[in-house]
Amino acid sequence: MQDIIKFKDMAKKITEKVTWVGKVDWELTTFHGDELSTHKGSSYNSYLIRDKKVALIDTVWLPYDKEFVSNLKKEIDLSKIDYIIMNHNEIDHSGALPELMREIPDTPIYCTKKGEAIIRGHYHKDWNFVNVKTGDTLPLGETTLTFIEAPMLHWPDTMFTYISGENILFSNDGFGQHFATESLFNDAVDNAAMMYEAEKYYANILNTYSVMVTKKIQQILAMNLPLNMICPSHGVIWKENPAQIVEQYMKWADAYQEDQVTIVYDTMWQSTRKMAEAIANGIREISPSTTVKIFNITKDDKNDVLTEIFHSRAVLIGSPTINYGISFAIAGLLEMMHGLKFKNKKAAAFGSYGWSGEAVKQINNHLSEAGLEVINDGISKLWVPDSNALDDCKEFGKEFAKSI
Ligand code: FEO
Repeated sequence: MQDIIKFKDMAKKITEKVTWVGKVDWELTTFHGDELSTHKGSSYNSYLIRDKKVALIDTVWLPYDKEFVSNLKKEIDLSKIDYIIMNHNEIDHSGALPELMREIPDTPIYCTKKGEAIIRGHYHKDWNFVNVKTGDTLPLGETTLTFIEAPMLHWPDTMFTYISGENILFSNDGFGQHFATESLFNDAVDNAAMMYEAEKYYANILNTYSVMVTKKIQQILAMNLPLNMICPSHGVIWKENPAQIVEQYMKWADAYQEDQVTIVYDTMWQSTRKMAEAIANGIREISPSTTVKIFNITKDDKNDVLTEIFHSRAVLIGSPTINYGISFAIAGLLEMMHGLKFKNKKAAAFGSYGWSGEAVKQINNHLSEAGLEVINDGISKLWVPDSNALDDCKEFGKEFAKSI
């Protein structure tokens, strides 16, 4: 493994003119604080373009700033870098900028106007900014860079950069995956594992902005740019059939769903768990071809659960009533569902209670506010459900299956 890590941490040529100079982060387990789990690590992809002029696209996350600049010095005399292109300025891509700019403080930084505001807000430096808009170009010699603003994919500053001749789209977070690998290209990795991370990335980071995703892809397709590769800022480069991830994004952005029902619950004394399993059995009896998955939100990873919800056509959320409300973990999940704006999903609530039983109604309210179609009043059961109560839950599952 050590040899592989050393190999990947070295610069690696993608084409005659383009070299990957990023950082593979094998130990990253969470991202955005604790908002997003990254079980497969990640990478921060930076690209060096050597034509008559030299351009660097994006940098890496702050903890790796010195390593990044040190490795870059082995690849090129930093004074030979003519332009720095910052497609997006969240700290996982701009974090090494201050360390780099200490060495080449006058080098122009090409970014959107909002990108400049974010860099100034993060680093409080008066660097040589050049604001660019969609359609602006920067000739490098035999190749030319074209900038394409992509606001809210997923920050207001985001842009893509296309290089003619090489026919590569540098898409930053778009089409990325938190997926550390010894291989740079999509045709050299475990495809199922990588595609899962691409979907998880979309579901947890980009789904909220699906309308903009569709519009941006349509705009880029209308430009009829020849496309040999898509180089995102995280994970593998789409070299083998790069159109596949574009087509997949169009599907994901269009209220994506598979024939799956996802049941998520929290439980204090196993009563709500028993209800979840009885409901699942009812759904399976009516709709045996439907995939039915059950998750305890306190034991399963929240972002993996959200990915399962993302590709489901219906969801059931269960919580016992506690302190006249819903459990902490289910409340957190519902809040994240509200932010991610899943579309075209049916939903219902269930839960056990001891005396007051507010949880089911509260879950239904949250689900409605999150934009899901709540199809009934839900089901509550007092104390530990007996066999009659579990039969009711199974019947509830049957009716739910018939109505989705
Ligand atoms: Fe990979 Fe939005 O930063």
